[in-house]
Amino acid sequence: MKKITYIIWASALLLATSCASRRSEPVKGRSFNANRSEVVHGEQLFMIHCQKCHPGGEGGLGIAINSNPAPGFVKRLQMRHGLGVMPAFSKKELSRSDLKDISSYMRAWKHY
Ligand code: HEC
Repeated sequence: MKKITYIIWASALLLATSCASRRSEPVKGRSFNANRSEVVHGEQLFMIHCQKCHPGGEGGLGIAINSNPAPGFVKRLQMRHGLGVMPAFSKKELSRSDLKDISSYMRAWKHY
């Protein structure tokens, strides 16, 4: 599939699974699964790359993502390709396993 087709599909999926409003209460505490190493690593990466726009998963410069129901692969597509104001993260910045760890961290929010 051509890259542009891929991006259009990804955007359509994102639109279908999201809306721009705030969806949740702020994330409180850090009691969730915090000792799983991929979650810990995902949190570190999130703090470096994502926190400035999605503080604690809430909306800031970016939109709230802590209760986004989209499946992990859609979120990883968003990280890799960006959308609108959100920058794309290249493989040099975040490897495939980095993206997975960030996904695990974001999933952990829901279980706390
Ligand atoms: C420069 C600010 C910025 C940074 C840095 C950033 N984002 Fe975003 N993000 C946004 C904006 C703005 C949107 C809304 C995009 C749109 O719809 O135009 C967004 C959207 C998203 C969405 C889709 C939410 C939805 O419901 O559609 C996810 C998931 C997401 N970001 C995750 C991340 C992750 C994970 C990182 C770190 C790897 C990150 N973002 C870094 C600004 C940012």
